Amino acid sequence: MSQKSLYERLGGYDAIAAVVNDLIPRLQGDALLGRFWQHRGEDGVKREKQLLIDFLCSCAGGPMYYTGRDMKTTHKGMQLSDRDWAAFMGHLNAMLDAFRVPQAERDEVVAFIQSTKADIVEV
Ligand code: HEM
Repeated sequence: MSQKSLYERLGGYDAIAAVVNDLIPRLQGDALLGRFWQHRGEDGVKREKQLLIDFLCSCAGGPMYYTGRDMKTTHKGMQLSDRDWAAFMGHLNAMLDAFRVPQAERDEVVAFIQSTKADIVEV
């Protein structure tokens, strides 16, 4: 008997999309991280949000096909620092609290996100 995928256990597409939809405005409004979204067009941000949803769903075992770029290529040159990363994780944890994600799934989500850090943080 195989266990259900993380995608299913998190509540599928709608649950993951709901978290990302709440997360992006929090990042945009953050004093440290807001700079990454300054002067970006609304539609570009919507597109990025959709790609993030697709990426997370697909990595969690969902049926989506991720059409975006890999994490290294996407964030190269943004000079993301450890402080930026810590601020991002703070918002992610607040979202996982707000959506009452159970501990086992929460640990898996955090471990997965941490696994992308080496490709994203540059300085
Ligand atoms: C402090 C942390 C982060 C910041 C400031 C940040 C910032 C950004 C920005 C500004 C873009 C738009 C790039 C563009 O339009 O060319 C982007 C795209 C993206 N980011 Fe991040 N990011 C962070 C962390 C993450 C993490 C942890 C993930 C996933 C685990 C992620 C996944 C993505 C994806 C999937 C895209 C779209 C890729 C594409 O356009 O092909 N990001 N990010």
